[in-house]
Amino acid sequence: MSDKFIINPTGPLRGDVYISGAKNAVLPVLAATLLTGQDCVVQNVPRLSDVESMCGLLASLGAGTQWDAASGSLIVRAGGLNLCEAAYEWVGKLRASFLVIGPMLARLGRAKVPLPGGCAIGSRPVDLHLKGLAALGADIDHTHGYISVSAKKLTGAKIYLDFPSVGATESIMMAASLAEGQTIMENCAVEPEIVDLANFLNAAGADIRGAGTDTVKINGTRELRGVDHTVIPDRIEAGTFMVAAALTRGDIHLTNVMADHLKPVTAKLKEVNIHVTETETGLRVYHDPSQEVIAADIKTLPYPGFPTDMQSLFMSLMATAQGTSIITETVFENRFMQVGELKRMGADIKIESRSAVIEGVRRLAGAQVQASDLRAGAGLMLAALTAEGTTELSGTEHIDRGYCALETQLNQLGADIKRVIA
Ligand code: UD1
Repeated sequence: MSDKFIINPTGPLRGDVYISGAKNAVLPVLAATLLTGQDCVVQNVPRLSDVESMCGLLASLGAGTQWDAASGSLIVRAGGLNLCEAAYEWVGKLRASFLVIGPMLARLGRAKVPLPGGCAIGSRPVDLHLKGLAALGADIDHTHGYISVSAKKLTGAKIYLDFPSVGATESIMMAASLAEGQTIMENCAVEPEIVDLANFLNAAGADIRGAGTDTVKINGTRELRGVDHTVIPDRIEAGTFMVAAALTRGDIHLTNVMADHLKPVTAKLKEVNIHVTETETGLRVYHDPSQEVIAADIKTLPYPGFPTDMQSLFMSLMATAQGTSIITETVFENRFMQVGELKRMGADIKIESRSAVIEGVRRLAGAQVQASDLRAGAGLMLAALTAEGTTELSGTEHIDRGYCALETQLNQLGADIKRVIA
């Protein structure tokens, strides 16, 4: 049994919200702390269940983690890293934990990590991670659901990624930091979280140039040292509140945001008649009642294109926009899990291959719905804010993976959401 959210509509959301550190930045940074035997301090860490799971995995490998409640920072002591096998118990919980494979290989010479299974949004293979590690000299074996990698030494190489995978770029960057010689990685991912990881590694003594462009050069070093690193703000959490402002026709001021990272989301909101302005401390997102929110077409793409993680949230917005919108998902093969649930709330959506055709309706209706994954759940939660009547949303554990008590934050802006503990 999981918790449930009981959501009633309350009208426009208004007020200030402080955006947490980025989940997708902190998870690879935590994996990267395994590259050094010295203590690392990671600041601005969001207290998410995914972060707790990653800490559990690190601890199971012999790396201690300790929260500093006063500062919200996390101290990782990987001096005692001694186990080179990651337990399925942890890797099965979150796919990002597969990222420990590169650091363990680089530091211990071998690693055995369970193959992350398929998940709700697609099969999500790891072939690009493994091709990269093989190019650096690792032997790779796949038996009984585990990937084993080993190498007496890693050697820099030229690596061309078939697709700019975020995770593969991170895996290779981490392993290559301790390889002998230069690695040149081409067609890599350029997400802000990649730059954050490179900043962490460079502060620890790595020599990485070009992160944030499609070619990254890494000159391997023998050892990395402990660092104190502050993770970037979460652009998807920020985007979630931007859509909450748009959907409820409200006025929300976001602080601790990087406007540059939000350009594709801001551009799309402006296209549908939502105002986004930079302030001295953040971003203000608001609706002018004299303007209708109108339909728009969206295609998800690797950064700096429109983020796939924002797709379900925009679908909720488009569900009541004036006109017909087409959302095309190009990054993951099965990321329309929220559609059936939105239709239960009265949305008019048809799936045609990788596209969803959305006819805006005047108003959604509250219903019993189920979150299938993190962002699908957040999209349903926002849709419920304006639906007529009560929505009962189950599967809240998915939402807790990526948001620090989203219901509390939304309630502080005027929403009416109750968590019913199972
Ligand atoms: C990361 C984010 C996730 C986001 C995604 C795309 C984290 C913890 N998660 O996931 O929130 O939705 O980026 O922005 O940062 N692929 C392969 N082979 C591989 C690796 C990936 O074919 O070895 C494919 C995937 O199946 C998918 C696409 O590449 O279709 C993008 O995946 P990737 O960029 O690797 O996403 P993640 O790092 O898993």
